[in-house]
Amino acid sequence: MKSLVAYFSRAGYNWVNGEKKELQKGNTQILAEMIASICKGDLFSIEMETPYSSDYDTCCEQAHLDITKNNHPPLVDKELDLDSYDVIYLGFPIYWGTFPMAIFSFIETYKLHNKVIYPFITHEGSGQASSISMLKKACYDSEIKKPFVAVGSFISSYQKQLEEWIKQ
Ligand SMILES: Cc1cc2nc3c(=O)[nH]c(=O)nc-3n(C[C@H](O)[C@H](O)[C@H](O)COP(=O)(O)O)c2cc1C
Repeated sequence: MKSLVAYFSRAGYNWVNGEKKELQKGNTQILAEMIASICKGDLFSIEMETPYSSDYDTCCEQAHLDITKNNHPPLVDKELDLDSYDVIYLGFPIYWGTFPMAIFSFIETYKLHNKVIYPFITHEGSGQASSISMLKKACYDSEIKKPFVAVGSFISSYQKQLEEWIKQ
């Protein structure tokens, strides 16, 4: 079984356990690296051509605008053949109660069809919110498995639970 661990994540200022803090590496990226190391999968970072600001408030505005306008932002062009993978782990943070719009761009750009998808999600209190129901609609012909849902502020404490989730 060959696995791909694709994720969207953002370093910079974020809301961490009740205050704004600068993260050198995004929470979802940390989780993606933990997953890839457990399942020996290939890592793939989903990057927007024009990334959101590292300033928290500006990023919130930009991400909100993309959601309300249903913008699917162009991604940095990278080689990726999804057909060579049996399983896709797909990771994202929750933005405004759902997944960042770059996930739509990823699904469309790389033609994510007929796959088994294991979502992994980081958030700061709202849980998976409406991300999974939206993902099921966007990937209607794929099988969406039970997501791994983690609080970003405590990301390094999930190793054991991750191993259990991947084993199952
Ligand atoms: C634009 C934006 C919107 C967010 N919206 C939510 C939200 O609706 N619910 C929530 O629990 N956390 C929200 N968060 C917090 C992130 O989901 C959380 O910090 C996540 O771990 C960030 O992942 P990253 O470091 O990989 O980018 C938001 C953060 C940003 C920057």
